[in-house]
Amino acid sequence: MCGIVGYIGKRDATPILLEGLHRVEYRGYDSAGIAITRPGGLQVLKCQGRVRDLENMLPKRFKGAPGIAHTRWATHGEPSDHNAHPHCDAANRIAVVHNGIIENAAALRARLMSEGITLRSETDTEVLAHLIAAVPAETLADAVRQVLRIVTGTYALAVLDAERPEAIVVARNGGPVVIGIGDREMFVASDPAALVAHTRSVVHLDDGEIAVVRADGYETSTLDGGPTAKTPSVIDWTSGSFDKGGYSHYMRKEIVEQPEAVRRTLRGRIEPRFQTAHLGGIELTAGELLDIRRIKVLGCGSAYIAGCVGAHLIEQLARIPAHAEAASEFRYRNPVIERDTLYIAVSQSGETFETLAAVQEIKRKGGRVLGIINVVGSTIGRECGRGIYVHAGPEIAVVSTKTFTCTSIAFALLAVHLGRIRDLSTADGRRLTRALAAVPEQIEEIMGREDEIARLAEMLLGCEHAYFIGRSAGYCVAMEGALKLKEVSYLHAEAYPASELKHGPLALITPQTPTIVVIPRDDLFSKNVSTIEEIRARRGPVIAVTHPGELPVKVEAAFTVPQSEPELDPILLNIPLQLFAYHVALRKGCDIDKPRHLAKSVTVE
Ligand code: G6P
Repeated sequence: MCGIVGYIGKRDATPILLEGLHRVEYRGYDSAGIAITRPGGLQVLKCQGRVRDLENMLPKRFKGAPGIAHTRWATHGEPSDHNAHPHCDAANRIAVVHNGIIENAAALRARLMSEGITLRSETDTEVLAHLIAAVPAETLADAVRQVLRIVTGTYALAVLDAERPEAIVVARNGGPVVIGIGDREMFVASDPAALVAHTRSVVHLDDGEIAVVRADGYETSTLDGGPTAKTPSVIDWTSGSFDKGGYSHYMRKEIVEQPEAVRRTLRGRIEPRFQTAHLGGIELTAGELLDIRRIKVLGCGSAYIAGCVGAHLIEQLARIPAHAEAASEFRYRNPVIERDTLYIAVSQSGETFETLAAVQEIKRKGGRVLGIINVVGSTIGRECGRGIYVHAGPEIAVVSTKTFTCTSIAFALLAVHLGRIRDLSTADGRRLTRALAAVPEQIEEIMGREDEIARLAEMLLGCEHAYFIGRSAGYCVAMEGALKLKEVSYLHAEAYPASELKHGPLALITPQTPTIVVIPRDDLFSKNVSTIEEIRARRGPVIAVTHPGELPVKVEAAFTVPQSEPELDPILLNIPLQLFAYHVALRKGCDIDKPRHLAKSVTVE
């Protein structure tokens, strides 16, 4: 949520910052801005709109270093030129870019105004620039420290001082900050994506840390000034893996990449000798896993829905009661934390604020948390300390596709592992691990029929509403299908358990309201057929997502996916719904990779 980039070194900062901004733009994209230091002071340019709008405005002479830049997802104050970051003090000496929310901004704004300072924006961030400029301090880091002591809230910050251009100061409390180590030049960012073109050696700040970043090195310390020790780590993603690679949209690229991504999730994790899964990072012994009486899965958005798929898998295969809940809800209801419950946090970015807060709440109460995370080294991954990295690769489109699939695969591996410690037989272990190994090719088979899905998508073009229904794990598929469609195409899509349709939503079925029915050939098949009959009796159009074979009921259209084992079917049934949402959005001319009002990683509450 919001992107920060900074550069200090001998080169001109502007092209480096702009390129970095493009790479983190998926984190927020309602306005963008840049500040660079050059002899005589700061040069600042900012505007509402995308990074390319900022680029188009840049005068030729916009050159210098160090510099900081920002792409915004509005929290305080609507998207506008004056609310865009960087924010500066009255003398244009200090420039600040900020992700997060300053909770006592209203009181600080009132204080500044009573001192006669004119505020030029409605943001919470601007107060920081004025305060940093006003405090008497020997160094910029001292000034930032003093101000942060009176600030409450969350932040990832980068600060420039035109009079002290030898350093950029960055600070972190609840929002990611990464320092990239170059050769006599240094980079800062809110996301390693902005750094990979220049360096793969990075240092992640922890909450409560502040860093002074010079061209030839960096020092980290706490807000009290006590030094902290950091060990650089290596980013395992290359610059190329962040590119669109010839595709018109990241979303389509990431959907198409799924067979390879799933192979990465599975690599080295199937243990044929014992017909189970090998998961090196969970760091719990078989004895400890045997003591687990309950599993609670937490995440937000698609990560939460992947958690619902995962809870089904665990309950079926390991016979451990398992349940998923939105992390955002969980943390505020004073949850009971139990010793024999295993908590699982799911997150693509590993930075979602509410998931992180839920993990911290569980740990504070003495609970054990395991992470299922995509971004290696991310905050939630580090906070959990144990878990499964899904290795889906960078996911840039705001909507999650390949990570959803790979997370479901990671859950299937965990479920097999937990099951094989309990009652899952070797025969079932073999059946499921073989089925998992076949998933990449089965996804390829679905990809080969994208034209069919594009034709189905046309059926939705004149509609304003759609239902997605399914039973049991099929309902999770319906939830994710509906979420994808509303996120990218802005069509009102609602997911409902098929069994509940007659208890309310049937009243809304009309010839203009299609229902997408997830109907695998499992033991609930005939129940789903009855539900389709009920919809048709109300003249509602039906699109079935099902397995090969005749449907004993008439439907407007059907798409078939290859059959897996029943427990794993939801993973494949979801794939056509991703392409379906993509093609509806494409035909409607929507901004597929950057849907309105959304951001890839929500690092505020
Ligand atoms: C945002 C994104 C969703 C994502 C959710 C959780 O809402 O728009 O696509 O599923 O955050 O993100 P995470 O990085 O924790 O999986």
